[in-house]
Amino acid sequence: MQAFLYYFTSLLLATGVLCIYNPYRLPNVIRPKHYDLRILTHLNGRDQLHFEGRVKIDFQVQQPTNNITLHAKNLTIDDSQITLSAHNGLKTNIIKTELNKEKEFYIMHVAGELPESEQYELMIPFKAQLSENDTGYYWSSYNDSFTEKTHYLAATQFSPTFGRTAFPCFDEPHLRATFRVTLGYHRNYTGLSNTPVRNCEAHETLENYIWCEHEPLLPTSTYLVAYSVHNLSSVPSPPSDTIHNVRFRSWMQPKVVGESEFCVNFAPKTLSYLEQLFEYPFPLSKVDQLAMPTHKFSAMENWGLTTFKQSHFVHNDTEELQQAKESKAQTVAHEYAHQWFGNLVALNWWNDLWLKEGPSTYFAYLTLDALMPDWGSSQRLIGNDLAKFFQDDMINNSIAISRQVQDSKSVLEQFSPYVYKKGSLTMRMLHLLLGDEVFFLAIRNYLKRHAYGSVTQSELFGDMQQAADLKDALSPDIQLSTVMDSWTLQGGYPLVHVVRDYERGSVQLNQSLFLLTNKSKEQSESCWWIPLTFVIQQNANFNETQPQFWLKCPRAQQAQQLLKKPKSDEWIMLNPQVNSIYRVNYDERNWQLIIQTLNSSEHSNDIHVLNRAQLMDDLMALAWTNLQSYDLALSMLEYLPREQELLPWNTILNLLNNHGELLRGDQSSIFRAFMQKLVSPLYARCPKVNSVAARTKSSPLIALYRLAYSQACRYQLDDCIDQALSLGQFTEQIEEVPINFRDIMSCASIEHGTQEQFQSMLQRFKNSTIESRKTAWAKELGCSRNFSQLQEFLDYLLQSTDKTTKTYYLVVVNSALQRQNVALQTADHVLQHAKILNDKFSSREIKSLLLTIIGNSHSQLDELKLRQQLKGLDKFEKHLGAALHIRNINLNWLAQRSVNFIAALSKYI
Ligand SMILES: *[C@@H]1O[C@H](CO)[C@@H](O)[C@H](O)[C@H]1NC(C)=O
Ligand SMILES: *[C@@H]1O[C@H](CO)[C@@H](O)[C@H](O)[C@H]1NC(C)=O
Ligand SMILES: *[C@@H]1O[C@H](CO)[C@@H](O)[C@H](O)[C@H]1NC(C)=O
Ligand SMILES: *[C@@H]1O[C@H](CO)[C@@H](O)[C@H](O)[C@H]1NC(C)=O
Ligand SMILES: *[C@@H]1O[C@H](CO)[C@@H](O)[C@H](O)[C@H]1NC(C)=O
Ligand SMILES: *[C@@H]1O[C@H](CO)[C@@H](O)[C@H](O)[C@H]1NC(C)=O
Ligand SMILES: *[C@@H]1O[C@H](CO)[C@@H](O)[C@H](O)[C@H]1NC(C)=O
Ligand SMILES: *[C@@H]1O[C@H](CO)[C@@H](O)[C@H](O)[C@H]1NC(C)=O
Ligand SMILES: [Zn+2]
Repeated sequence: MQAFLYYFTSLLLATGVLCIYNPYRLPNVIRPKHYDLRILTHLNGRDQLHFEGRVKIDFQVQQPTNNITLHAKNLTIDDSQITLSAHNGLKTNIIKTELNKEKEFYIMHVAGELPESEQYELMIPFKAQLSENDTGYYWSSYNDSFTEKTHYLAATQFSPTFGRTAFPCFDEPHLRATFRVTLGYHRNYTGLSNTPVRNCEAHETLENYIWCEHEPLLPTSTYLVAYSVHNLSSVPSPPSDTIHNVRFRSWMQPKVVGESEFCVNFAPKTLSYLEQLFEYPFPLSKVDQLAMPTHKFSAMENWGLTTFKQSHFVHNDTEELQQAKESKAQTVAHEYAHQWFGNLVALNWWNDLWLKEGPSTYFAYLTLDALMPDWGSSQRLIGNDLAKFFQDDMINNSIAISRQVQDSKSVLEQFSPYVYKKGSLTMRMLHLLLGDEVFFLAIRNYLKRHAYGSVTQSELFGDMQQAADLKDALSPDIQLSTVMDSWTLQGGYPLVHVVRDYERGSVQLNQSLFLLTNKSKEQSESCWWIPLTFVIQQNANFNETQPQFWLKCPRAQQAQQLLKKPKSDEWIMLNPQVNSIYRVNYDERNWQLIIQTLNSSEHSNDIHVLNRAQLMDDLMALAWTNLQSYDLALSMLEYLPREQELLPWNTILNLLNNHGELLRGDQSSIFRAFMQKLVSPLYARCPKVNSVAARTKSSPLIALYRLAYSQACRYQLDDCIDQALSLGQFTEQIEEVPINFRDIMSCASIEHGTQEQFQSMLQRFKNSTIESRKTAWAKELGCSRNFSQLQEFLDYLLQSTDKTTKTYYLVVVNSALQRQNVALQTADHVLQHAKILNDKFSSREIKSLLLTIIGNSHSQLDELKLRQQLKGLDKFEKHLGAALHIRNINLNWLAQRSVNFIAALSKYI
């Protein structure tokens, strides 16, 4: 699932708590084998959107029990109609049923005891309204652009725990069972499920209704079962190159058919690429891709019936950014990687969510590189993931990616960007640690061995260990499961200290948790198993990422003779390609040697691009915490004018901008002067924004130019604003600017332009119904420096009765907060309307808002007053602490380090 809607806050550090009793789990006494599901769907206008059905569950008793407990939520069940029959046909009475709302259990008490290993068939009838909130079995709609008629449709979103709102079931991922789905609906509609239709027959009583039975589905977790009833248009894909010649079809509303080409064609290619990579054939005969007008997440990997949010599925090159296309391609590849990680091999329980999201994210990156080599995506994506990870995890609220989850709410919260990113970086670490051969041998064994089963992370590590042993890839004293547990069962990351003995060619090493705040006693003792790979200046080879040594646990200072003795005027460097997620601090002399190489024009590229970015990231973090000086950190930036690649630029500009946002007054002016100087050579390298050269199709260049133009206009460099103003004056001219840069120019022209320009864009916004355009305009309008006109717009958005119009509020606000012009007034607007926002937006959206308006600003808002103002608003209250924590970190930096930072900057202006 591609699902960045929730975020974590809990401070739980789940080290070794795997066997805690979890009252939210089903009693482990009954094993479902097969579900026979029949559902009749009614889509007769806005007030008649409902379904009714019955499920027959074949199960086996594992341990004698006097009740059957399964999941059901928000279903109407007539318990007098429930039947329970044993294998021999004998019926057993249900004497009482009860609902446990908190645990979402439906409990049927039986007369006597069901004996061990006996098999039963349980039949439960149920009905409910189709859900309105895109979960469970839900309805959605679209309007025909010609007839203006509204069409309703229904589809499922069961992951992670919404299956139980659609039919009673044993809704835990390890309880795999076979399914036979039969759907009833009006003949005008199409019914889809995981498998193809086997046969259809007329409904017994309802005229023009049919029942269509689908072929049986292989043993599956309940959250992957899917069905839909709709009247969308279908688009076939070219035949896929898979072993079973899997047939692909895509479904969408008629008006977007023309824009579906990219995903329609890309999907079968990803499936066949992954099939070859994993050497395990995709077992189903067809895949339907369903583009839903509304979707709770971006997409969902249901086996054989992948669903997408429509806006994430269709793409129009003349209207949308190249990076949007890459993000859609990434989503497609991610969902199809799940066909193996999650679908074929299931999770034992949601605590190990990373075990399906990590590999799916990582293998999607590899897929993009294989199928779209010109894009150069994986390096950019990994570079961004690393930067984000190192940033997020140095604040004292990081949690383990594998951790105990209990109720539905905590299961859903587990789907955080953090789990996806760190999960992916963890897979990458295993890959680079073991090398291609061992890693893929292990992955293939793992898939074969656990196909149709369910696993915990120790199964993955065990298979990796076995492959490593077979190929002698690890030293015998290294236990992979111990090593990897230190990365997955605790949050945070280590800083490795390296002090060289220049005479002997040896190093002293030690590790400690890296945090921007003071550490608790427990934290100062935390420890990781750290693979150590040294690169030596002579013949530096950043491709050899397998470990030469290990830093072990429990912690101890360690002396290490390097394999190859470096000369005393040569640098050494740890962690080639940043293959593992730790920071490094060297003694100052070694830092200076590295900086010398960066600054020498022939050799700066000797250092891998991911390391060039990481060196600056590390050094800036070390300077923040006073472990190195800002003088040293900034001296590294002197090489940047020659840096050709996006990643190092992107990393350092993001970091510096974060610093800059904290500054005021004179400090802020010095900072701006420094940034103008820094960005100038980057901007000078780029073509004029409306020139032929800017129309490039090269993804890496587009990304580089976007960074350059946006930073140049941000710091009002040279002619950036003049260009923007002259282009922004007339609609026709701005539409001439290549789509990939239009938003940047438009934003600058709104920021520095006239009220008329703002009003004219506002008109276009109000007049348009195209989602991607409206989003772009909302963002650009948020660049305004005139708060009274912005406020009018914000009020208009909040007062709108239309559900979607309100969602643009966040887009505008985020844009305004990113600039300093009216950030304070905007923050005030947010706080004044907190109640409306709390109802409307997700926990994660509110968190990000709060972190920006409180964490990053100088808002003088007093903590007590804030608490009062936000009282009773659960999402705000939940994240206020984290925001205040970050504000404290920033205030500390301002008090203690900003003078140093500014003094170092001043030497360059
Ligand atoms: C149902 O049976 C299980 C296993 O025998 C037991 O642990 C559980 O407490 C029972 N539930 C109720 C509500 O009686
Ligand atoms: C299901 O939820 C809806 C909306 O919250 C509510 O109106 C309805 O009464 C619920 N139905 C049952 C059977 O709980
Ligand atoms: C969605 O609505 C259903 C009832 O239709 C309710 O049970 C469920 O809690 C809601 N989920 C969310 C995330 O709001
Ligand atoms: C479709 O049109 C109706 C009536 O004009 C409107 O209320 C509704 O919001 C529209 N739905 C969508 C999905 O655009
Ligand atoms: C089914 O389609 C026919 C022909 O297009 C139409 O006249 C009829 O109203 C539709 N019925 C329903 C229930 O959608
Ligand atoms: C893409 O958008 C443009 C401008 O709105 C439109 O003219 C064109 O038809 C769209 N392309 C496709 C394939 O629909
Ligand atoms: C490292 O790998 C890259 C990509 O595979 C290759 O282009 C480069 O030549 C290699 N460098 C060395 C020193 O082996
Ligand atoms: C609004 O859209 C309509 C139809 O697309 C167009 O005719 C009209 O000129 C637009 N008005 C404005 C103010 O852009
Ligand atoms: Zn996923």
